[in-house]
Amino acid sequence: MKKVLVIHGPNINLIGQREPEVYGSVSISDINRNIEEKAKSLGMEVKIVQSNHEGEIVTTIQQAMNWADCIIINPAAYTHTSVAIRDAISSINIPTIEVHLSNIYKREDFRQKSFIAPVTIGQISGFGDQGYYLALEAALGLKGK
Ligand code: DQA
Repeated sequence: MKKVLVIHGPNINLIGQREPEVYGSVSISDINRNIEEKAKSLGMEVKIVQSNHEGEIVTTIQQAMNWADCIIINPAAYTHTSVAIRDAISSINIPTIEVHLSNIYKREDFRQKSFIAPVTIGQISGFGDQGYYLALEAALGLKGK
């Protein structure tokens, strides 16, 4: 059974109430429930973690080495700033998929650079919460562990 770790970065805990015109109005608890249901229907095991702290996300990624076959991460604002999260992903040998609810390339200039994308398999951006479910399907098709 494929094991997938889903990581939500800072402020993703507020999704549903935070700028719904940008991020949609589906709550994070509904998104997490849908992720769990989708993973189950695909025969995958899933763990979901949310953190507002960069170092905690780095530690979570390092610890995934002992468990996950794939990581799905929405690094949120750290997408555009974090060399530490990028280095954590490139330090472990686990295929990683980057997800954004909004289309970051349609937004402010500072959001159009992802430090994370070059160390991932690929990025899904702009499909709202569906991005997570699409990422699970993509993870299923990945070769590897
Ligand atoms: C986001 C996009 C980021 O630019 C922003 O900082 C977020 C959410 C998204 O899912 O669209 O917090 O990652």
